[in-house]
Amino acid sequence: MLISERDGIFILETENTHYVMGVNCEGELNHLHWGKKCPVEDYFCTYKPWERSSNHSARDFGKTEYLSYGGAVYRPVALTCTYADRCRETMLTYKDFNISEQDGAFLLEIILEDKPYRLEASLFYRLREGTDIIERWSVIRNCSDSTVVLGKIASGEFNFPSKRPYTSTNFNGTWLAEFRKEETVVKNGSLVYESRKGGSDHTVSPFFVLSQNADERQGDVFFGALAWSGNFKVEVSRDCVGVTRAVIGINDFDFSYNLHPTEEFVTPSVYCGYVQGYGKMSNLMNDYAVEYILPRSFAKEPLPVLYNSWEATWFNVNSLGQQKLAEIAAELGVELFVMDDGWFGKRKDDHAGLGDWYVNRLKFPRGLKPLIDKVTKLGMKFGLWFEPEMVNPDSDLYRSHPEWTYHYDTRTPTRMRDQLVLNLTREDVQEFVFSCMDDMLNEYDISYIKWDMNRSYSETGAENLENPQELWYRHTKAVYEIADRLKEKHPGLQIECCASGGGRADLGALSHFDMVWTSDDTDPIDRLQIQDGFSLIYPTKSMRAWVTDTNRGSRPNDWDFRFNVTMQGSLSIGGNLLKYDKRELKIHKDYIALYKRIRNTVQFGALHRLANFAKDSIYANEYVYGNQCVLFLCTDVTSFFNDKFYHIKLAGLEEDAVYKFEHEGKELTLSGAYLMNVGLDYEMGGTLESKIVIFEKVQ
Ligand code: DGJ
Repeated sequence: MLISERDGIFILETENTHYVMGVNCEGELNHLHWGKKCPVEDYFCTYKPWERSSNHSARDFGKTEYLSYGGAVYRPVALTCTYADRCRETMLTYKDFNISEQDGAFLLEIILEDKPYRLEASLFYRLREGTDIIERWSVIRNCSDSTVVLGKIASGEFNFPSKRPYTSTNFNGTWLAEFRKEETVVKNGSLVYESRKGGSDHTVSPFFVLSQNADERQGDVFFGALAWSGNFKVEVSRDCVGVTRAVIGINDFDFSYNLHPTEEFVTPSVYCGYVQGYGKMSNLMNDYAVEYILPRSFAKEPLPVLYNSWEATWFNVNSLGQQKLAEIAAELGVELFVMDDGWFGKRKDDHAGLGDWYVNRLKFPRGLKPLIDKVTKLGMKFGLWFEPEMVNPDSDLYRSHPEWTYHYDTRTPTRMRDQLVLNLTREDVQEFVFSCMDDMLNEYDISYIKWDMNRSYSETGAENLENPQELWYRHTKAVYEIADRLKEKHPGLQIECCASGGGRADLGALSHFDMVWTSDDTDPIDRLQIQDGFSLIYPTKSMRAWVTDTNRGSRPNDWDFRFNVTMQGSLSIGGNLLKYDKRELKIHKDYIALYKRIRNTVQFGALHRLANFAKDSIYANEYVYGNQCVLFLCTDVTSFFNDKFYHIKLAGLEEDAVYKFEHEGKELTLSGAYLMNVGLDYEMGGTLESKIVIFEKVQ
């Protein structure tokens, strides 16, 4: 790991890659290389931009590191602003750089400036030992005496080396079907993935993955994931001479920001890298997130097996009913009991109560104490659901503070799920939201909060702000700050981020929350795709997954299948335990015990996707960690009835080590070399079959 500068050429050297920039004769910062290492570092040189014709300007075709809107430029840019004299063009040129070392990481800051307006843009690049991930972000600084209105402030611009079109991967999801991978070949124009809803949303996700001829193990893959849970924009474009670029950051839709004299704006980080194969990308990001992104308190601890009451009791929670569930959950080996929606205010369905975060005395006549005492006596921790950013018009909060919502006096508010969004850019609202949760945490022994958010924003009037267009940014910042404050004040607290399933499941959320709820769809067949998509770039342990009673009529699946799918994330139980017979309870108990045996491997291990479902008709996911390797095999409804025989070669084992495992009823010991190079035959029974095989290294 190294950062060097010579004659205006900056070389970032990670474990296996080089990222190179240089200042050209016009003072522009050009992008020069990103990819495999180049041994002859001296030969990197900048080029003089040239005009191709009066229709194609030099500035438009250059490979720039952070292009601003100004001069003859017509493609997606990273920065736009309006100065006090109404000039809407920004011309950034190189000013200076700093290289420093901080906690074992190297940091490069390249300072660009728009001299006449004394505006600075610092581009930051952080490198850490032993990884190919580079963390990038930008800081815009107003060193002048007048306010500058920022219109767009991306975290970074990226240029890709090949002139051939890249395949862009993102998701094509919806509520109940998040993280479904979709590939698009970007031949011309721009492909935009964005959210304008307030959260990062269920449809697409804030990252770019651009590849050529890639599969799990090979082919060029460039990626960058943004740590931001609000409106974002990823613009991937290919120009008429075949240069592909990506600009990624906070969305400029309905956004602007007043940067006053002496102030600076810090963008969210984007974590980027170049690797060979998607598998490498997933594992790099997984390890990096555990090591550096997830909140420190629990990043390296395995997550507990939790029970969540939602699908068992819906809004119909009460003290005795929850205690009965808790008794069974504890018996099964559950470690954390989470009571979901319904415990507060006048909540009996989704039409009332949000905002009234006090215990409903009809359902809990003596408060939550009897339930929590019971849960803790049973040896479990207790968790509670909140939807802190929202209010139902039918609530005491709304009746006393209707002005606390985003609104325009002249418009009728859109009531999605019969609720409105609180104006979290107001300090009094932030304080209210914080203290509602803080009060409950002070009064009760609560170790876990599920923070939900079930609608997008609309009628986004925020007259408290000097510039109301800052609300999208300020709201997300406030969410992060409240979560951080709660964690700081209550050190043992874990927080799950949920937004009607996976509507806020991104690296921004994962910098402040310990885990995310990936989808309200708990059908294991659908989950195969949802989990596969999530694992592309997000860390396995952060993915909560529930085993529930979901068993859609036409595609019944057994408990083994549900557990074998769900155990590939952080195992949770979500069914109505009161309805299970002895056999079903024993299945739960046995699987929970099994999961505890393998959870370090699943939550922290390297993931090897051994099959490609589209070609092989099976999901074969292997997790390797320390001396253990766990293989999950799952077919789905579209697997061919007669596709019964699969040949599986493992990966990531030690060639010379010997592994003990069970194969078709027999105990075997075989070398890593055999398992990886010769492989094993597995017979599956057709559709919706599953198996789990545990390999333990014995020597
Ligand atoms: C949406 C979440 O995704 C569910 O898990 C549940 O918490 C409900 N909200 C409760 O209203």
